[in-house]
Amino acid sequence: MTDTIISHREMRLAETVSRQLTNSLARRKLTPAFSSFYVTRLAGMTPLIAVLDTAKLGDHSPYVSTDLLHQLSTDLGGLPVYLGNHSGIRYVVLLSPLPKLPHKVDLPFDVPRGKLAIGVRFTGQPVLLDWETFLHLAVLGNTGSGKSIFLQALVSQAIRDEMQVLLSDIDQTTFGTLEGHPNLAAPIAATPQDAFGLIEKALAECDHRAELFKSLPERPQKLSEYNALAIKQSREPLPRMLVILDEASTVLTSLGGAKGAMGQALATLGWRGRKFGIHFVFAAQEFTKDIVGPVRDQVGLTLCFRVRNGQMAERMGCKGAERIPENRPGLAISDRHGPIQTYFIEQSALGVRQSLLPVVTEVEQALFTRAAKETSWRLSIPILVGWGQRERAARQLLETWELRGWVLRDPQRDNARYITAKLAEILSNRPTGQTLSNPVG
Ligand SMILES: Nc1ncnc2c1ncn2[C@@H]1O[C@H](COP(=O)(O)OP(=O)(O)O)[C@@H](O)[C@H]1O
Ligand SMILES: [Mg+2]
Repeated sequence: MTDTIISHREMRLAETVSRQLTNSLARRKLTPAFSSFYVTRLAGMTPLIAVLDTAKLGDHSPYVSTDLLHQLSTDLGGLPVYLGNHSGIRYVVLLSPLPKLPHKVDLPFDVPRGKLAIGVRFTGQPVLLDWETFLHLAVLGNTGSGKSIFLQALVSQAIRDEMQVLLSDIDQTTFGTLEGHPNLAAPIAATPQDAFGLIEKALAECDHRAELFKSLPERPQKLSEYNALAIKQSREPLPRMLVILDEASTVLTSLGGAKGAMGQALATLGWRGRKFGIHFVFAAQEFTKDIVGPVRDQVGLTLCFRVRNGQMAERMGCKGAERIPENRPGLAISDRHGPIQTYFIEQSALGVRQSLLPVVTEVEQALFTRAAKETSWRLSIPILVGWGQRERAARQLLETWELRGWVLRDPQRDNARYITAKLAEILSNRPTGQTLSNPVG
């Protein structure tokens, strides 16, 4: 039998599973509006894919909740049920044993901007996340399981996307090389009190952003909406903010647990931060009983590296994390995507500022150089089209640059777009030999 053949046993199992999925949804008063079921061979596995017709569902959230995935899996006698990472809603049920994941995969250089790359899943596909969808993140794992490397890969991507970062590192082993980095909104916290200070700072930022949101008559409901409006009105867009708490259980316990001041502040940040693009990552070796529930309610994704306590992993939706072998750091179970080999990043890569600077592509560089010479830094769609860009590409470039705060409309100069001091600074760190005459901002 070759690797591409689906066995009779798997076909029969697929039929049973399809029926059971339909029944399970119906029993929970959800609409089993499956438009198709299909069985395929993928990277040495046999997944059944069940596609829901999203047009026939009301609110999508009950269909993608980790609780439901867990219940479906239980109904199927423990077969793992994951969400597909296509648009729409697809359940992926593995009919064959899990394949082996590679032991080490480097963080790729070409992660699309604004996305967060976590690692590769058992299908071989990368897991790319949107901040606005998953919001907050829980990370569990024993010492040596790969937590710190994962948090480093996270923070390096946040910096690449020009997010503001608040870090807590009680052990002082995770973020040391980032001390003094310009994207840090405060020094790295080394004590629980300092960590509490970071949460208070993030909450103060919520207040500040609430005022800004209120000042727009359109009443934006999330950061992307606010920024789109701000850019239209030549206001400065707001960066996302990321708070990473390593050894968070230690911090929380020493400040009174889930009900203490820190626990309350974190809960508040959990719901307030959503609207304002302020996200947190709660990383720890263990979650005590009193915090599993509150943390789970806040986060959109949990990643469990190797842990001692299987019950705790299961309660976080990451069954089996206690069985990850000791010699597999970086391998994690996620509540939504199943096993993931998380990306590796060299410690040294994190310390090097230059490599963390936003990337100006060669084409962009050429366009900016030409703008310096020919238009006194003025940029517009006709100008870019005149320089050989297709109109669509030109529009996209300008929109992206605006979002990054690289260009801004200048009311003093008939509202045309000019490059900002921020881009000037980025460009001046490169060996271009260009200086700016009069950037805006
Ligand atoms: N994603 C990964 N891929 C491969 N090896 C890893 C990965 N993450 C960690 N390791 C290895 O495991 C060691 C311990 O990882 P670390 O992140 O410091 O663990 P923790 O913070 O959980 O104690 C690292 O020094 C590295 O050699
Ligand atoms: Mg660590």
